[in-house]
Amino acid sequence: MQRLLVVEDDSAVRNNIVMCLELEGFQVESVGSTREALVKLDGGAYPVVLSDIYLDERTGLDVLRAARTARSDCAVILMSGRGSMETVMAATRGGAFDYLAKPFDLDDMVEKVRRAFASLEEPEEAETRIDDIPETDMIGSSPMMVDIFKVLAKVSPTDATILIEGETGTGKELIARMVHRFSKRAEKNFIAVDCGSIPPSLLESELFGALKGSFTGADRDRVGVFEAANGGTIFLDEIGDIDLNFQAKLLRVLQEREIRPLGSPRGKPIDVRIVAATNKNVRQFVEEGKFREDLWFRLDVVRVELPPLRERRGDVPLLAQTFLDRYNTRYQTQAILTDSGVRALDSHTWPGNVRQLQHMMERLVILSPRGRIDESAVREAIADGEGRESAGETLEEAKVEQLRKVLAATGGNKSKAAKILGIERKTLYRLIERFGLDK
Ligand SMILES: Nc1ncnc2c1ncn2[C@@H]1O[C@H](COP(=O)(O)OP(=O)(O)OP(=O)(O)O)[C@@H](O)[C@H]1O
Ligand SMILES: [Mg+2]
Repeated sequence: MQRLLVVEDDSAVRNNIVMCLELEGFQVESVGSTREALVKLDGGAYPVVLSDIYLDERTGLDVLRAARTARSDCAVILMSGRGSMETVMAATRGGAFDYLAKPFDLDDMVEKVRRAFASLEEPEEAETRIDDIPETDMIGSSPMMVDIFKVLAKVSPTDATILIEGETGTGKELIARMVHRFSKRAEKNFIAVDCGSIPPSLLESELFGALKGSFTGADRDRVGVFEAANGGTIFLDEIGDIDLNFQAKLLRVLQEREIRPLGSPRGKPIDVRIVAATNKNVRQFVEEGKFREDLWFRLDVVRVELPPLRERRGDVPLLAQTFLDRYNTRYQTQAILTDSGVRALDSHTWPGNVRQLQHMMERLVILSPRGRIDESAVREAIADGEGRESAGETLEEAKVEQLRKVLAATGGNKSKAAKILGIERKTLYRLIERFGLDK
């Protein structure tokens, strides 16, 4: 008989799980608190434990630890409704066997339990340590995001090159930063380079450095990004934008792990981890001969394809709530999101992805009358934003009062205010001047 322990504080969920597993022929014991779980685990070992993460004053990670103390090869499956990179990372690093994002499909759960029992027959891997997991803010509990978190939990600690593909605002840079933070290089530098915004003629000196006098304007030695990031991580953003000439140079550096600053006769060895990102279809560039295939292979070691927000609907409410909390704290407001507000956010397609949703939440928190973000507030804000994007200056007719509020909330920070309002900074300056708001 296959025996397992279920730890879940919500009795309805717990009963469901137990019933379902018993029907599948497992021998299930269940408890509703960490205290009872620890007593059980103290009294004997279980081959498989299924535990919620957020329980009471202690968490599923404590259950995990106790379960593995009682039996070092215990397969622990952790579940959580608060899907975030942090929880999945913590679970994976703590040696959890698997992770289930709530709400889950019961068949899925049974499958994971079966796999957990099967794993016990396989030889054990080296045990991992539970470290202090730094706070992260990558949110998502959709199956696609959880899968990405799992991949990242595995590859972050290695030196593997990672390539991130995704539309604008999907979190590519955030992921690159997480990878660095969860790597052995975390104490060293993380440097982001936007390859698309540096003129091709300057990329080489910017990345590899230059000796004084090596080109016009080089009035002193310049340290390149590769050297500045030595021991750390370089984030090569918009990698699809570099020209063929520079692609060849970058390839050489990646192959030889050595840079040669402009004007220098000697190479310098470097040790950097590369994370690259693109929102273009670089594979198509390869086919069209615009991107070197050999460089592509070098970069495409571990590929993370970030789905656009419209393909991970389930994450919208979670993200919206997280941003709501964040901006309520920042602006000392108590805005709340009503059910109809959540539905309205959820049914929008968000062409600007998470970034756009984030800005929208910031705007809503500041502008919502009486702090209620309901369907009409969301619809109005979305229509407003879209109008502004296409008409540029329709804010003119909009309430000056809003402008005033946003400026007050941002402490007069104009680029911030422009972002929240969804208008260009130039436009904001003009409006401030026109309505005399700078007093
Ligand atoms: N899953 C997420 N959880 C929380 N915040 C997120 C998430 N994804 C993105 N964000 C936030 O959205 C904003 C945009 O993310 P980021 O800059 O990483 O996107 P990007 O893919 O690099 O976009 P672009 O292609 O336009 O450069 C950032 O403020 C980031 O913190
Ligand atoms: Mg980016």
